[in-house]
Amino acid sequence: MDPQALESEALSAIEASASPAELDDARVRYLGRKSELKQALREVRDRETGMVLNAVRERLEAAAGARETELRTAELEAVFTGPSVDVTLPGERPNRGHLHLITQIRREVEDIFLGLGYEVYDGDEVATVFENFDALTTEPGHPSRSSSDTFYLDESTVLRTHTSPDQIRVMQSRTPPIYMVSLGRVYRRDTPDATHSPTFNQVESLVVDRHITLADLKGTVLHFSRALFGEERDVRMRTSYFPFTEPSVEFDVSCFLCDGAGCAVCKHSGWIEMGGAGVVDPDVFVNVGYDPEEVSGFAFGLGLERIAMLRHGLPDLRLFWENDLRVLGQF
Ligand code: PHE
Repeated sequence: MDPQALESEALSAIEASASPAELDDARVRYLGRKSELKQALREVRDRETGMVLNAVRERLEAAAGARETELRTAELEAVFTGPSVDVTLPGERPNRGHLHLITQIRREVEDIFLGLGYEVYDGDEVATVFENFDALTTEPGHPSRSSSDTFYLDESTVLRTHTSPDQIRVMQSRTPPIYMVSLGRVYRRDTPDATHSPTFNQVESLVVDRHITLADLKGTVLHFSRALFGEERDVRMRTSYFPFTEPSVEFDVSCFLCDGAGCAVCKHSGWIEMGGAGVVDPDVFVNVGYDPEEVSGFAFGLGLERIAMLRHGLPDLRLFWENDLRVLGQF
């Protein structure tokens, strides 16, 4: 090995390295444990050669050290003078999801009833014909039973057309007293338009206890309506008909926009239709094995989408299912 030749070859490699990584490569190659120089130093036998080789090693190490300082300085220089990030520019916000408006209202309603000590019941969307119709004393010829109104899965099974089958399921699985609210999807064979949809959400409430009367129903609906639409609201009841309640009523809430004076939302009546309700028909109790002499109860039901539409002035039921983020993102 010619120390002179090796030194000049190593020096040019060190000088030529354009980055700390390249410099490292040169170091390993000429000064590393397996380098020709280190090999020769290990095998050296005479003092003369040893001194020459050590001097070469020292000069190469010094050159590599100097080159490293140069390269690091250049690197820093590039960071300071090169293109840089303007930390004062506003960032790009990542899109964050949020709960669907209907889910928000669903949780709000659940909270109102949880505050009253009610149980939140989660009923299946598939119901037996018994639960959806028979036990609720819906006559065999009732139009809601027809396959043009109801999705039948088979002869004895349907997609629930309302949340009222949850009344039956809760009563079959519990003993009174019962204070429950059930929320979820229902299905009807409707052609979608601004006020109809083949699926929508309902709230159902059922109370069964001793000495429950229509007055308890009214008080509960009043509390619920005020919690939703404001403490100044009033509630009125109109007689109606449902197969499973007697008497049956529909309840309205005083218009929260015009406070009863009359406006477009309440169609100038001062009242907004909210839902159906009534005192549980004794026959329903018989169908679930309760003694109507022992207990009485009330039930009411209403649509969740309707609450959302009223609150936000939304004109069309289809908005909830089309999932247009320009609409849903507003809530
Ligand atoms: N289930 C009825 C409907 O869908 C509403 C209702 C519920 C009426 C409870 C009375 C009692 O129209």
